[in-house]
Amino acid sequence: MIVWQLLCVIYCLLVTTIQGIFQDFNPFADRNISLKIPSINGWGENKNIMTTGQQTIINSDSIYEWTPILSNITGGKKDSFVFTIDAEASGYGFAPTYEVLMFISGNICHMPANKSDVELTIYYSFNESILDNPAIGQSAIFQDGYIQALAISPVQSSSSNATSTYSNLYVVTELINSTTQQPLPSSDTSENWEYRLSISENDLVFQWDVRPWVEILDTDMNSALLSTGNVTADAKVYHNYSIYDPSLYDLYVYSYEDSVQLNENYNLSLCAVKNGPHLVSSQDTSNKTATTNNTSPLEHTNLAIQKKITEYGGSVSEMFYVSGLNASTTYVAYLTKKISNSDGLSSVGGILFSQVYFTTKSTDACSLIFDLDFCSDVAYSVPTSSFSVDNKTLMAQTYDHIAEALYANFSKALQLISCDADEDARYSPIMSCDDCAEAYRDWVCAVSIPRCSTTSSQYYIHRNKTHNRNDYLNKFIKPLDDYYEILPCIDMCYTLVRNCPSDFGFACPNDATTEDLLYQSYNFYMDTDYATCNYIGNSSLIEVRALDDT
Ligand SMILES: *[C@@H]1O[C@H](CO)[C@@H](O)[C@H](O)[C@H]1NC(C)=O
Ligand SMILES: *[C@@H]1O[C@H](CO)[C@@H](O)[C@H](O)[C@H]1NC(C)=O
Ligand SMILES: *[C@@H]1O[C@H](CO)[C@@H](O)[C@H](O)[C@H]1NC(C)=O
Ligand SMILES: *[C@@H]1O[C@H](CO)[C@@H](O)[C@H](O)[C@H]1NC(C)=O
Ligand SMILES: *[C@@H]1O[C@H](CO)[C@@H](O)[C@H](O)[C@H]1NC(C)=O
Ligand SMILES: *[C@@H]1O[C@H](CO)[C@@H](O)[C@H](O)[C@H]1NC(C)=O
Ligand SMILES: *[C@@H]1O[C@H](CO)[C@@H](O)[C@H](O)[C@H]1NC(C)=O
Ligand SMILES: *[C@@H]1O[C@H](CO)[C@@H](O)[C@H](O)[C@H]1NC(C)=O
Ligand SMILES: *[C@@H]1O[C@H](CO)[C@@H](O)[C@H](O)[C@H]1NC(C)=O
Ligand SMILES: *[C@@H]1O[C@H](CO)[C@@H](O)[C@H](O)[C@H]1NC(C)=O
Ligand SMILES: *[C@@H]1O[C@H](CO)[C@@H](O)[C@H](O)[C@H]1NC(C)=O
Ligand SMILES: *[C@@H]1O[C@H](CO)[C@@H](O)[C@H](O)[C@H]1NC(C)=O
Repeated sequence: MIVWQLLCVIYCLLVTTIQGIFQDFNPFADRNISLKIPSINGWGENKNIMTTGQQTIINSDSIYEWTPILSNITGGKKDSFVFTIDAEASGYGFAPTYEVLMFISGNICHMPANKSDVELTIYYSFNESILDNPAIGQSAIFQDGYIQALAISPVQSSSSNATSTYSNLYVVTELINSTTQQPLPSSDTSENWEYRLSISENDLVFQWDVRPWVEILDTDMNSALLSTGNVTADAKVYHNYSIYDPSLYDLYVYSYEDSVQLNENYNLSLCAVKNGPHLVSSQDTSNKTATTNNTSPLEHTNLAIQKKITEYGGSVSEMFYVSGLNASTTYVAYLTKKISNSDGLSSVGGILFSQVYFTTKSTDACSLIFDLDFCSDVAYSVPTSSFSVDNKTLMAQTYDHIAEALYANFSKALQLISCDADEDARYSPIMSCDDCAEAYRDWVCAVSIPRCSTTSSQYYIHRNKTHNRNDYLNKFIKPLDDYYEILPCIDMCYTLVRNCPSDFGFACPNDATTEDLLYQSYNFYMDTDYATCNYIGNSSLIEVRALDDT
């Protein structure tokens, strides 16, 4: 009986409160504060739950956990938001002990040009008076298109429950003259600033990273291949997503000129990068690619970005193939990454990485190939075959067949060596036939599929198109033009000697006694900003050593 009475009391209280809110309780009605409508479903969708003329309700300016609002603001206007603190929503379900952290983050998506003396400022406080007098709150300024701030509410806990000391966080945004630190007088609506703001008890919904986290593998005249860093490393800790989910990363490619504009105002703004005048993004192309049946990615000639998850040398990364580019042109690529909440990858917010630059080659002497069946780790430019100038798929297949044919005899020989026998009978207790076979395959691929460059360097060998590394290339490839070869790294030869039974008698040229041979056929890995030698396989095994100049 007592339970029912109690429930009735709670219910009746609830009903009166709700009625109170909906009927006539509007604390802002007599103040000059514009109420902002939150976007219910995150990005883009800005559902208007309050139509003009209707009575405003207090809830209509709420900002919800993880869900960014999108708003426009001009001089002389104030935006106000209320975030309802839920102590239970914190920290992925762990009950907070001392305090509730609220992460405020945001991006400027668009701002008027040449507004260096205007700042978009937010004020936040648990005290409702901030709505009238922003100065009583803490403040933060959007810089380089980005803002982040932290609000902390202590927790009152009893043995059975914990509640936040404050129940609401109030946020006001306003344009400020950075010289006078005064609110901007009203300006015309063409001076519109568009921004996103989010409050979450779990994470910064908008983030940025000073690392580029994407590497240019190679380019040719009309395409480029980029790869992210090791995805496995950060997925394990607390994020809830599969490292094989290709929607994790996206790439946006800008012209150099447009990126200069972008970097001036919104260097750190994910929203500006996503909405800006990019030439192409992997977002635009994901569906097109999915519908183009099973054609090789190498056959795409239109401006597009295709994604691929690759597992390679113990790490998983996402590759981006950008096709349809112009020759001798510098492009700028921005990598973005989704972040995850308790439901997995989230479609709102995310991380913006630092930009990378790449320049396409001026001639078609080299062609970028990847996705080979046998030499699966080959992903670089090779001398263009005069037999298949316009068909990179065919070119890739030809190179692959040459390497596979060279490997065929070796695999027979490997069967004659007792490597997979009992551990005692093996040539080495730690190396297996598989290690040897893999080292030999990588080595064969590197020496039979030369890496090509059109620029000269002290580390590269100039090759006359009639005098290639080997006769197979002269015969079956017949390069279109002279080129520079980036020699294989000598470490691949060392790995081969180390991983294979001594019965094979593999030996590598000794740099002390056969210097000429060495520099005609291999080179050393050096820590420069471009490749000094070509390595296939697990590159973490490369031993960096200084080249002896004497
Ligand atoms: C509210 O603002 C408008 C213009 O921004 C102004 O005309 C009006 O007088 C203000 N009302 C009050 C009560 O301050
Ligand atoms: C902000 O303004 C831009 C153009 O001025 C418009 O396209 C956009 O829909 C506006 N956004 C909101 C949330 O009102
Ligand atoms: C911004 O300033 C630059 C140089 O200071 C000028 O070239 C450009 O036209 C200006 N843009 C606008 C929209 O006023
Ligand atoms: C809120 O701020 C006003 C003005 O500074 C102050 O008078 C009031 O005591 C504050 N309220 C609380 C609960 O701190
Ligand atoms: C939780 O704690 C608050 C304040 O300490 C108290 O008012 C409330 O009744 C408690 N709720 C429950 C379900 O124990
Ligand atoms: C900011 O204030 C300074 C000093 O009063 C003034 O010269 C400048 O024009 C103001 N800027 C804007 C955008 O109002
Ligand atoms: C990639 O990350 C995983 C997990 O941290 C690690 O085991 C692996 O060695 C890394 N791969 C490379 C090449 O560093
Ligand atoms: C791609 O397809 C998904 C689901 O089929 C859809 O939600 C998304 O809007 C599409 N994207 C584009 C760019 O068409
Ligand atoms: C994909 O395959 C379908 C049927 O097999 C064919 O009609 C369509 O033209 C193909 N699309 C492309 C882009 O090759
Ligand atoms: C991870 O996300 C999936 C849905 O994508 C969900 O079913 C699962 O419960 C989540 N796991 C955790 C630990 O939050
Ligand atoms: C390119 O070569 C591949 C493999 O021989 C072939 O399947 C494809 O049809 C060729 N593409 C063109 C456009 O000729
Ligand atoms: C390449 O070699 C051929 C034959 O030896 C020779 O005729 C030609 O001049 C060489 N080309 C260059 C650019 O050295």
